[in-house]
Amino acid sequence: MIPFRLLTLTLFVAVSAGSCPEGSYSIPNENICVFPMPDSQYYIDAVRRCLKIGGMTAKIANVFENGFISSLLFTFNGTAPYIGIERKSDNRWVYADGSPLTYQNWATGEPNLNSSTNFCALMDPGTGKWVSTDCFSTRPYLCTGKDLDVSTDCLDGWSYFRGTDSCYYLWNFTYVNGNSQSYYTWDDGVRNCKELSSSANLASIHSMAENDFLYDLVQTYYPTCSTLATDVGAWIGFTGNYKNGNWSDGSPFDFVDPNIQEIDDSYRWVISNVPACNYRRWSWMQENRFPARFICEMPSNHRLGLEKVGK
Ligand SMILES: *[C@@H]1O[C@H](CO)[C@@H](O)[C@H](O)[C@H]1NC(C)=O
Ligand SMILES: *[C@@H]1O[C@H](CO)[C@@H](O)[C@H](O)[C@H]1NC(C)=O
Ligand SMILES: *[C@@H]1O[C@H](CO)[C@@H](O)[C@H](O)[C@H]1NC(C)=O
Ligand SMILES: *[C@@H]1O[C@H](CO)[C@@H](O)[C@H](O)[C@H]1NC(C)=O
Repeated sequence: MIPFRLLTLTLFVAVSAGSCPEGSYSIPNENICVFPMPDSQYYIDAVRRCLKIGGMTAKIANVFENGFISSLLFTFNGTAPYIGIERKSDNRWVYADGSPLTYQNWATGEPNLNSSTNFCALMDPGTGKWVSTDCFSTRPYLCTGKDLDVSTDCLDGWSYFRGTDSCYYLWNFTYVNGNSQSYYTWDDGVRNCKELSSSANLASIHSMAENDFLYDLVQTYYPTCSTLATDVGAWIGFTGNYKNGNWSDGSPFDFVDPNIQEIDDSYRWVISNVPACNYRRWSWMQENRFPARFICEMPSNHRLGLEKVGK
C-alpha cells in the first residue's frame, strides 16, 4: 500500500511542473491546480483563503481527481483536511460554489445526516473517502482552481509565507563604518520593525510550519561551530519560558519550539539555524547580550486590504 502510494505520487509530481504556482500541484491532463494548505483553519476561513487566491475549497469532480488529491494528503502528516463539499439546509451536498456534486466518495455510513452539526466534509487521509464533519474544528484544507494567484503581496525585500498569509523581513547582519557589526536590543528590534511598517512587529510563531519557514529564513553557514546565539540568532517577539509567555505583537502563546530549553526564568528569545553545526533552536538571551539580527512580521498587503474592507 505505502510503496504504491509513493509511486503514484512520484508519477504525479513528475508531470506536475505545469503552470501551477509553487507549492501547488497540477492535476495531470486537467488545467487545475491543487494547493495543500497546512495552516489549520475553521471551514469558513478556509473558504475565504481559497477565494483570496482565486480558487475554492477542493472541488472533486471525478474519481481521478479524488485519487490525485488523496495522494497529496501526506503533507498534512495524518491530519484529515477539509474538502470543498458542503451540506445545504435541505440536506443536499454541493460543492463550495453551490453546484451539484458530479461525483461522491463517502465512507461507509456517510454522510451522517443525523448530526445537527455535520455541514462540512473531510477526506480520510488513509482511504481518500469523505466523512461528514462539523465546520468549526480547525483543519488543514485544500484549494483548487484554474488561475490561482498567490502573488506575494509583500513589500520589497520581505518574504511571503502562505501558511500565515504574512510577510517576514530578516534584518540581516549590518555593519556601520564598513566593518563593525551592529547589535540590537529586543526593543531596538520592535522599534525598527515598526519603522519598516506600522503594521509590523517582531515575528511571532504559531505552528511547526511557520517555525520551519523562519528557520529557513535565518539559516546561516557559520565558519566555526563554537556558535553563540548572539552571533547567529535573530530576535523573535517572544518573552517567556517553555511553559508561558507573550508575543510582542499581542498574539496568543500557543506554540513553542519542540526543542526549547526547559528553563524556568522568563527570557527574550532568538531563533538560530546553522546546519553545518547542527544548531537549530530557539535560544534565550541574557540581559547583557545582543544579537545582530531580528525578524519582523506583518500581514500581507492582500490581508491588510481585506482587513480594511472588513472581510
Ligand atoms: C508528524 O507527526 C509525527 C507523529 O505524530 C510527529 O512526530 C512529527 O513531528 C509530525 N511532523 C510535523 C511536521 O508536524
Ligand atoms: C440515523 O438515524 C437513524 C434513525 O434513528 C438510524 O437508523 C441510523 O443508523 C442513524 N445513522 C447514523 C449514521 O447514525
Ligand atoms: C544573511 O547574511 C548571511 C551572511 O552574510 C547570508 O549567508 C544569508 O544568505 C543572508 N540571508 C538573507 C535572507 O539575505
Ligand atoms: C505575559 O503578559 C502578562 C500580561 O502583561 C504578564 O502578566 C505575564 O507575566 C507575562 N508573561 C511572561 C512570561 O512574561
